[in-house]
Amino acid sequence: MTVILRGLIVHTPKNPFQEAQTLEAFSDGGLAFRAGQIIALGSFSEVLARFPEAQVHDCREGVLLPGLVDTHVHYPQTRVIGAMGYSLLDWLEQRTLPLEARLSDNRLARELAREFVRLLLRNGTTTALVFGSHFQGATANLFGAAEDVGLRMIAGQVCSDRMLLPALHTTPEQSYAEQKMLIQRFHGRGKLRYAVTPRFSLSASEALLEVCQTLLQEHPDLHFTTHINENLEEIRTVAELFPWAQNYLHTYDRFGLVGERSVFAHNVHPSELELLRLAEARAAIAHCPSSNAFIGSGIFPMKRHLGHGVRFGLGSDVGGGTGFSLLKEGLMAYLAQRYAPDGVRLTPAHLLYLATLAGAEVLGLGEVVGSFSPGKAADVIWLKPQPGSTLEVHFRHLETVEDLLGSLFTLHGEAQVHKVWLEGREALLD
Ligand code: GUN
Ligand code: ZN
Repeated sequence: MTVILRGLIVHTPKNPFQEAQTLEAFSDGGLAFRAGQIIALGSFSEVLARFPEAQVHDCREGVLLPGLVDTHVHYPQTRVIGAMGYSLLDWLEQRTLPLEARLSDNRLARELAREFVRLLLRNGTTTALVFGSHFQGATANLFGAAEDVGLRMIAGQVCSDRMLLPALHTTPEQSYAEQKMLIQRFHGRGKLRYAVTPRFSLSASEALLEVCQTLLQEHPDLHFTTHINENLEEIRTVAELFPWAQNYLHTYDRFGLVGERSVFAHNVHPSELELLRLAEARAAIAHCPSSNAFIGSGIFPMKRHLGHGVRFGLGSDVGGGTGFSLLKEGLMAYLAQRYAPDGVRLTPAHLLYLATLAGAEVLGLGEVVGSFSPGKAADVIWLKPQPGSTLEVHFRHLETVEDLLGSLFTLHGEAQVHKVWLEGREALLD
């Protein structure tokens, strides 16, 4: 059966950092899909003429966007959101790690996993790269919950063997065995993929990083993700722990962990050498602007990343971040760049690109999701302003699509994610 969604349709099929005029919009548009795949995009009358038998959904109130892509979010941390007044290392020690240790309880882990995937969808996120739990069972629960709701997810069991809570520590042997089982069970199953996930090199011995390397060698299509250059104290500690390393990135690079399938979260304080190496390796960054502000890490040097051609997408970084909304992350990226002496002047097209296609490209899914190009998965969100809200007033009086997107990102809290389609199937949001 062919379905057509009718409404205001907006997407960024190209990269606005490289080309002008990359926003494509249809004010009375039609998006047709069949068997989970987009088959046509255009004006509603044209698309209907091609598929006169299609079932039409009237979505004319609000706007249809591609599903949002979160390149960095932590499954165990939903309940940490809002813990004010900390910097990274004391935030981890006092607020975050004690909660993560509770995920050894499988019942709690299952509850948190269901809650987590539901909250992603309710915020319009249809694809995510997720930091799992330190526990194998909890991470298996996460994969199960994502599969149940149809979320496209790359995730892995987080590993650490020093400097955290002892309850979260593994050994290289144990980590290898547990991850191997998860890879066999979940990697490549439906829309699930596995990412090797050392928490950060601060909490990983060389032997554990070697295990990560071995897993990637044994399964070259795995993903890799971790943290880097987030906080100055963290960076100093890593330098002490790895006296041979030229810089933070080198602690991963030495073990073959910097490549096209690697996503490093934050990179707020990179050196030139690190940016050069990231570009050369085609590795990518998860830019987490609300977290960078909330835990006081600093302002992301976007201009330097662009200058070096280092790819980046947006990450909510819940619970260091302030919520699951990638629209909010777009606004936070915009605001932070306005504050920065050397900030990039972002436009609404940049924000939409960062929240959708850029994230897809960072995750190696640029041919699969992130825009409405025919052949891609029909991952679609329908946003509607709340009745009587500022956003609704704006939507009624806006003249250009740029203005509409600008208000949407600025007033995101007043936009309801009304419906979400995952591969053409409507998701349950409650
Ligand atoms: N570095 C190591 N662990 C974490 C985490 O949970 N959140 C953030 N923001 N940074 C980290
Ligand atoms: Zn993080």
